[in-house]
Amino acid sequence: MVRKYDYLVIGSGIAGMVFALKVAAENSRVAVVCKTSLEEANTYYAQGGVASVTDLRVDNFEKHIHDTMVAGDWLSDPAAVDKVVREAPARIADLVEWGVDFDRKADGEFDLHREGGHSEFRILHHADNTGAEIQKSLIRRLKENPFIDIFENHFAVEIITQHHLGKTVTRRTPDITCYGAYILDESTGKVDTFLAKVTLMATGGVGAVYTTTTNPLIATGDGIAMVYRAKGTVKDMEFIQFHPTALYHPGDRPSFLITEAMRGYGAVLRNLDGSEFMHKYDPRLSLAPRDIVARAIDSEMKLNGTDHVYLDVTHKDPEETRHHFPNIYEKCLSLGIDITKDMIPVAPCAHYLCGGIAVDLDGQSSIQRLYAVGECSRTGLHGGNRLASNSLIEAAVYADAAARHARSVIKGYDFRTDVPEWNDSGTVHPEEMVLITQSVKEVNQIMGYYVGIVRSDLRLHRAWNRLDILYDETERLFKASKPSRELCELRNIINVAYLIMRQAMERKESRGLHYTVDYPHPETGDRD
Ligand code: FAD
Ligand code: SIN
Repeated sequence: MVRKYDYLVIGSGIAGMVFALKVAAENSRVAVVCKTSLEEANTYYAQGGVASVTDLRVDNFEKHIHDTMVAGDWLSDPAAVDKVVREAPARIADLVEWGVDFDRKADGEFDLHREGGHSEFRILHHADNTGAEIQKSLIRRLKENPFIDIFENHFAVEIITQHHLGKTVTRRTPDITCYGAYILDESTGKVDTFLAKVTLMATGGVGAVYTTTTNPLIATGDGIAMVYRAKGTVKDMEFIQFHPTALYHPGDRPSFLITEAMRGYGAVLRNLDGSEFMHKYDPRLSLAPRDIVARAIDSEMKLNGTDHVYLDVTHKDPEETRHHFPNIYEKCLSLGIDITKDMIPVAPCAHYLCGGIAVDLDGQSSIQRLYAVGECSRTGLHGGNRLASNSLIEAAVYADAAARHARSVIKGYDFRTDVPEWNDSGTVHPEEMVLITQSVKEVNQIMGYYVGIVRSDLRLHRAWNRLDILYDETERLFKASKPSRELCELRNIINVAYLIMRQAMERKESRGLHYTVDYPHPETGDRD
């Protein structure tokens, strides 16, 4: 089947939905596709909140800019940082206008939290489930909009470029152009052709490349893999952020997050014997940026031979704790942990990707007519490490910028009429699902063992050799098979794992989230 839309939006998290709401209009039809349900997205699980300078009596843009640059280890692009920080208040106003109910104090002003790396209280939140509040509010708006068609359980397999018209496309081809995407309709098992004048990639992160992650398991980096295969530019993949405090509960995948806001509220990290340890690593203690805190925990766990540490909030007022963190309280209680009396077992796990599809200040990728926004994109905001709660706001700011730019140029575009339909003749369904599920586990293990918080040349080379075998096997399987979501996801996590490893091997320094025992930090000289 062939479908035609002015705008094709791949992804229904904050990035995809804000863009869709901003481009949908009388003469602009929009398709929003997502691979499972509209709700299932990283956005839904965000806890801490959204960073934006709000209380001008104590805070200002310069402070937020400085905090972002420091967290990013001075690798952030100053223009991107400036843009996000200064446009944040206007994008918060959009979210409020769309119905997002950020918590307020009795006097009506926003109740602001503080998180690691922030010099001021500037995190807007909705209790400890801000993401769910944003996701539900935007979904309501999306469903009301008559110019938006929603396609759930539709899996984007590849973007369409000249390559599909029989032309040779290489990384040097200057005018690679996107004409839409091939999308698998899970209800029919058929791959449909979605033609579009403008396509937005908003497919989110890559946490599911690792065994332990806070991300929902849809986070398989599909958009990044598709764009890389289409010869688009992907950058900064070595910067994988490990959140320091995921609930340690073996067997849970994804892992439940204990928000950083809890450390902002006064929670303290302790070893299993109750001793504090952050003073050994950073004068900001538990509120140091999360790369430092995650490495400190990793180091303590290795020193003591333990597989978790504790986060202690028992010294705070129980009523206040329950009020600020109702979901965390309930979740932990369901596992027999009363956080007002018991310390919470926590360990770091994969949380966020700072790199991705390289885009300019308008969210344009290196491929014409293709924009990328949200966690799948690399805007330059995060540099070597993302400051807490800077990603939801980055997505909102760049979705707005991409929408404005796309609206200003779309009149010059037309649909491509000579795109062939997906050809899977001669292919069959894979004989055994275990061929796919086992390979996913192998990729997860390789990444966990060799491409984690602390890296080395030896570990990266070992990972590379093992991934190579899985890559060959999977490409052969893909060519012989009818596409399924599971097989495509496997292929994508292998592509993404390859990019993380290769870009990690290319960075010959310890910087931001990329920490290797073989190369020191260029200024501090730190290494293991
Ligand atoms: P997502 O919200 O992940 O949406 C991705 C969409 O793409 C989904 O709809 C999915 O179905 C779709 N998709 C993916 N692949 C395909 C495909 N092949 N075909 C079709 N559709 C596809 N950030 C903050 O700023 N503050 C926080 O407090 C915060 N807390 C967090 C807590 C947790 C537990 C997690 C996991 C993340 C947190 N983050 C936080 C990070 C933030 O939530 C994400 O970076 C952000 O939500 C990403 O939004 P997105 O729109 O780019 O992607
Ligand atoms: C958290 O609440 O700790 C997550 C915040 C973030 O990832 O930005």
